[in-house]
Amino acid sequence: MIKEITVKKLNTASFISQKVREIQKAVGGGTAINALSGGVDSSVVTMLGHKALGKRLKTVFVQNGLMREGEPQRVAALFRKLGVKVEIVNARKEFFAALKGITDPEEKREAITQTFYKKVFGRIIKKSKAKFLLQGTILTDVDETIAGIKRQHNVFEQLGIDPQKAFGYRILEPLIQLRKDGVRKVGKAIGLPAELFERIPFPGPALSARVIGEATPQRIETVRKATALVERLLKGTKAFQYMAILHEDRVTGMRNGKRDFGQQIEIRCWDSVDARVATPTNLSFKTLRKLSDEIIRSVPGIVSVTYNIATKPPSTIEAV
Ligand code: XMP
Repeated sequence: MIKEITVKKLNTASFISQKVREIQKAVGGGTAINALSGGVDSSVVTMLGHKALGKRLKTVFVQNGLMREGEPQRVAALFRKLGVKVEIVNARKEFFAALKGITDPEEKREAITQTFYKKVFGRIIKKSKAKFLLQGTILTDVDETIAGIKRQHNVFEQLGIDPQKAFGYRILEPLIQLRKDGVRKVGKAIGLPAELFERIPFPGPALSARVIGEATPQRIETVRKATALVERLLKGTKAFQYMAILHEDRVTGMRNGKRDFGQQIEIRCWDSVDARVATPTNLSFKTLRKLSDEIIRSVPGIVSVTYNIATKPPSTIEAV
C-alpha cells in the first residue's frame, strides 16, 4: 500500500531533500537514465534526478511520433536553460510499427508500453550501462490501473510485474506518493519555470490516447493539428486539462457544394483538482464556436466538432 502525501501535508523542501537522498542511495556510484516527456511529472523527476546525480543522470526525450507540435525541441531548449542536457532519441518508426492495425484501447496502451520499456529503453539502457530508470509515476496512475479503469503505461510493480525481470533494469518512482497538485508544488519549489509546472497534464501514450481506433501517422497528424488549436485557444481558461479527440465514426458533411463523408473531432475541457473526478468546464458558446470554426478551417478532413459535457465518472479524462 502506497502512503499518500496530500498537498496539505506536503513540505516541499523536506520532500525534495529526502527524494534526492533516496535516489543517491539507490543509484550509488552508478548512473541512471530518465525519460523526459515535457509533462509536469517527468519534468519534476528530471530536476530531482539532476539534483541527486548531476552528470550521472542521462536525460532522454523519446520522440515517439505521438507528441504535440514542436515538443521535443521546445522541451530540450527549456531544460538547457536549467542546465540539463536532453538527448532526443528518434523512435517514431518503431512506435508506428507497434501501433499498426491496433484499435483496442488496452492493446494500444500495451503496444506503447512494450515499445517504450522493452525495445527503446532496453536498448538505451544497455548501451549506457545504467541500471536505473527514473520515472514520474504518480498515485492517480497507480489507482486507476489497480481499479482496472485504465492500464496506465507506466505502472508495473502494483500489477505484479518486476521491471528487472521484464526489462532488465530497475525503475525508481520518486513521485509515487503524490497527486498532480502535489507534483506542481514540488515543481515550483525545485525551480521549474511556470510554463512547465503549470502545464496541463499530458498522458504517457501521448496522442495515441486521443485517437479512437488505429493510430496511423496521418490520424495522429490530424489530432496533433487540432490539439495545437485547442491548446492555443483554451490557454487562458483556468481549466485542469483540455484536448482534442479524433473519432473513428465518419459523418456526412458538405464542402464546396459536394458531399464530404468526413471525420469528427471531440473537444474536452475539464475542471478538476487531481484528475480523480472531473467536470466539463462551462465554456462560453462563443469560445466553442471559435474552436469549431478554426478546427474546420485548418484541420483537413474534419466536418464535425462536438464538446463533451459528461462528467468523470462515468467518463474518463482521456478517451482511450
Ligand atoms: P483518465 O483518462 O484515466 O486520466 O481519466 C487521468 C489523468 O491521467 C492522465 N493519463 C495518463 N498519464 N500515463 C500517464 O502518465 C497514461 O497512460 C495515462 N492515461 C491518462 C490523463 O491525461 C489525466 O490527466
